[in-house]
Amino acid sequence: MKRILVTGGLGFIGSMFIRISLRERPELHIVNLDAITYAGNPANCAEVEGDTRYTFVKGDICNPSDLNLAIGSGVDAAVNFAAETHVDRSILDPAAFLRTDIFGNHTLLEACRKLGIGRFLQVSTDEVYGDISQGESVESDPVRPRSPYSASKAAADLQTLAYWHTYGTPVLITRGSNTYGPHQYLEKLVPLFITNLLDDEPVPIYGDGLQKRDWLHVEDHARGILHVLENGRCGEIYNLGGNNILTNLDVTRRLVSACGRSIETHVKHVADRQGHDRRYCLNVGKARQLGWGPRISFEEGLQQTVEWYKENESWWRPLKSQEFADYYNRQYAQRWNRSS
Ligand code: DAU
Repeated sequence: MKRILVTGGLGFIGSMFIRISLRERPELHIVNLDAITYAGNPANCAEVEGDTRYTFVKGDICNPSDLNLAIGSGVDAAVNFAAETHVDRSILDPAAFLRTDIFGNHTLLEACRKLGIGRFLQVSTDEVYGDISQGESVESDPVRPRSPYSASKAAADLQTLAYWHTYGTPVLITRGSNTYGPHQYLEKLVPLFITNLLDDEPVPIYGDGLQKRDWLHVEDHARGILHVLENGRCGEIYNLGGNNILTNLDVTRRLVSACGRSIETHVKHVADRQGHDRRYCLNVGKARQLGWGPRISFEEGLQQTVEWYKENESWWRPLKSQEFADYYNRQYAQRWNRSS
C-alpha cells in the first residue's frame, strides 16, 4: 500500500492517523482531502506540511469533482474520517449529519468503486450499537442507533457493507470508543472540561453523570485504524476500545483534580442530553486477535492530555472565541438553569 486517500484528515483522529502513518511508514504517500469545517484545523497537520509524501486538497467528500481532484492519478486505499461527529450538534441540526455522514460516505464509496480501490476503510463508532445496560458489544451484534449522529453512522456502515456484498469493493469498518487526547476540538467532554477548568469556569455534567463510556487514547485509536487497514480481512468490522469503562462523573473528578480545582465549586449538574445513551461497552477480542491493543493507560493518557492543553493554549484559546462561542451559547445557555 503506497498511496492513501485520507478524508477529514485535519480533524482530531484523522490528523493523528496521518502524523503516525507518515512517521512510521516511510514508503507511504498520503493525500488529505478536508473541507476545513469548524472542527478541521490546519495546525493539526503542521508537523507534516513540508513533507513531500503529504498532499493537501481542500474539498468536500459530497462533491464528486473534489474527490476526482484528490484521487487524481489513483490511490491504493482510502480511509474515511470525514464526518460530523458531535451528538449534541446532531440533536440541534440532524441534516448536516445525514449529508456528510451518509451521502458523503456514498459519494466516496462510488468514487472508490469506480477506481477499483485496493482497500476502503470506514471509520465508525461504538455508538451504532446503541445503549447496552450490561455485557459487551461484539461486531456481529445488530446496530441499534438512537441519536441522529449514530443513526447516520450506522447507515454509512450498512452502506459500506452493501458495497462489499454487491460490488465486491474491499471494505473494512472500525468502530472506536470515546477518544481523547491532544488536538481535540473543544465541544467534547474532555477538552471542554479541561479548558473550562483552566479558565476557572464550571463544567456542565448532563443529568446524574452516571452514564458510562469507554475511553481510548487518540494515538491508540489511530494505530488501530492503521493496523486494521493493513491486516484486516475485507468485509469485516473491528471494534477498537480502550477497556476503560468509567462514569462521566469519574472522568470529571480526575480532570478537576488534574486541573487543581474542586468538585464543589466547579462541577454543575445540568439538563440531560435528549435520548442520552447510558452505557457503551465494546468487546475488542477480534482486533486483539489481529494483533492490535491499546498501549496508553487512561491515567497516563489523561494526565498527558491535561498537560498538552496547559502547554498549548495558543492552539485552543482562539477557538474559544470563534464558532465555538456561538455553539456553546446555543447548546448550554438554557442548560445551566435546569438540573434535570
Ligand atoms: O463513543 C464514541 C463517540 O464518542 C464518537 O463516535 C463521537 O463522535 C464522540 O463525540 C463521542 O460521543 P459522546 O457523546 O460520548 O462524547 P461527548 O464528549 O460529547 O460526551 C461524553 C459523555 O459526556 C456523554 O455521556 C455526554 C457527557 N457530557 C458531554 C458534554 C459535552 C456531559 O455530561 N457534559 C458535556 O458538556
